[in-house]
Amino acid sequence: MTFSILTLFPEMFSGLTSSSILKRAVGLNHLTVNLINFRDFTTDKYGRVDTPPIGGGAGLILKAQPIVNALKSIKEKSYVVFLTPRGIPYTQKVAQSLASKPHVTLVCGHYEGFDERLYDYADELISIGDYILTGGEIAAMAIVDSVTRLLPGVIDEASTDVESFDHGLLEYPQYTEPKVFEDKVVPSILYSGNHGAIASWRKQQSLYLTYRHRPDLFNALTLTKDETKLFHDIQHGITSTFEEVAILKGKKFTK
Ligand code: ADE
Repeated sequence: MTFSILTLFPEMFSGLTSSSILKRAVGLNHLTVNLINFRDFTTDKYGRVDTPPIGGGAGLILKAQPIVNALKSIKEKSYVVFLTPRGIPYTQKVAQSLASKPHVTLVCGHYEGFDERLYDYADELISIGDYILTGGEIAAMAIVDSVTRLLPGVIDEASTDVESFDHGLLEYPQYTEPKVFEDKVVPSILYSGNHGAIASWRKQQSLYLTYRHRPDLFNALTLTKDETKLFHDIQHGITSTFEEVAILKGKKFTK
């Protein structure tokens, strides 16, 4: 997959693909990142890419011409995303949808935003959260990172099979050896070898963690009959099917 990134600060991306999984993804040709400085495309004789807004107001606005010319310089067909607080909230679902596209262009804003007419050149507007960054570069990096790990062959596919936000749930808790660490015990169900019981326990924990930490996600769920029962049991402290639920230890909660 190719990302073209339109930015005034290409040097900000130097670390992005120089270590770990993204470095490997580039090495294996799963990922190509093209950095395009749209200042190179300005026709302004002073090299300007931004000006104060027409009609007055604070700050500088990115002009249309340099960004449009930079977009037109990309010859391959590409899905164009503008990074802006106005965009749809970036979620795992959006990451999955971008991962299915062969070429995505990310346009990083700066200063007080884009000339409004630029949005006509966007296939999608994306925001990485309800806060204002100094520019779109950090948003672009979050997108490249989260999309790359979903590309086939980049990481062990089993790792992306079940993870947080799949089916609108947070991921279940995971443990490593030793069994007891500073009085904290690994739930013994995980040593049972009973794959059905473990899967059920994990689903119950996912429901519980989502309920506690992300009530917004929990309220959007439509639970199956089995999930309703699992949640009811954990909510009422009925854990007899699983001899211990370490995560619940000392935590009684009511709806
Ligand atoms: N540019 C400035 N703030 C942003 C945000 N929250 N998401 C994406 N791009 C941005």
